[in-house]
Amino acid sequence: MAGQLDGEVAIVTGGESGIGAACARALAAAGAAVGILYLEDAALAGSARDAVEARGARSAIARADVGNEADVERAFATIGDMLGPPALLINSAGINMRNVAVADMELAQWEHMLRTDLTGTFLTSRRLVRTLRAEGRPGRIVNISSIHGQIVRAGGADYCAAKAGLENLTRTMAIECAPNGITVNAIAPGMILTPMNMRAQTDKQFRAAAERHIPVGRAGRPEEVAAMAVYLCSKAAAYVTGAILKIDGGLSLEAALGA
Ligand SMILES: NC(=O)c1ccc[n+]([C@@H]2O[C@H](COP(=O)([O-])OP(=O)(O)OC[C@H]3O[C@@H](n4cnc5c(N)ncnc54)[C@H](O)[C@@H]3O)[C@@H](O)[C@H]2O)c1
Repeated sequence: MAGQLDGEVAIVTGGESGIGAACARALAAAGAAVGILYLEDAALAGSARDAVEARGARSAIARADVGNEADVERAFATIGDMLGPPALLINSAGINMRNVAVADMELAQWEHMLRTDLTGTFLTSRRLVRTLRAEGRPGRIVNISSIHGQIVRAGGADYCAAKAGLENLTRTMAIECAPNGITVNAIAPGMILTPMNMRAQTDKQFRAAAERHIPVGRAGRPEEVAAMAVYLCSKAAAYVTGAILKIDGGLSLEAALGA
């Protein structure tokens, strides 16, 4: 993919960690300048920026809670001033389910999840599309969903609802943005080894038990998800929009196991 994204400017939310940081590195390796939006760990964001620059690309960081409209507007302006106008957006910021049944869930937990994993992508995507539309430029949006956008798990109603919503946001925006030359797609990962899945990296037994349910026999790497994001941003994917691309080693195919 080297050179595929030369001259492009990308913004990656949740770009300081896990899948977002891997996307930032992969976009840089493909030639894009990368703006990294981070929540609170400026040092981690700085490391992610260093990794982008080590690949010969320009980079900048900006703090934003993606669920906060003013934060998002400010961060996009900062990145635009430092790197130039973005046309690529990877929405990777997110929080995980917490194994709490609906009957036991506080409204605050539900609202925090929806604000982060769904409203955040609404706010960043709206900001990008408004700018691109006004300037008559094409663009790409890639949303990081989850196999739980379609396959539910008890104790994760907030997460499953947010990711299902994200997938219909993706499809709806794909139709709305097609006339403007903007594609909108989502990636639905299975089990990926990131800080969100820390237990799988520290607890060998836990990981082995989880991997027994993955047909290819192992958890995925953030770089594997990032490669798909770069593809969706590349010219090769110009005709792909409204797609939800699974990357799960076959994990979701086992959903009816025991039926
Ligand atoms: N790791 C997996 O197995 C897996 C599987 C399916 C989907 N996903 C999705 O991938 C995305 C990235 O997760 P990850 O695995 O890289 O985890 P991660 O914890 O490494 O990264 C998540 C990032 O989101 C940021 N974030 C959280 N709340 C935020 C907010 N309000 N505003 C801005 N940033 C915020 C965090 O600071 C962090 O950098 C998430 O949307 C997650 O739901 C992950």
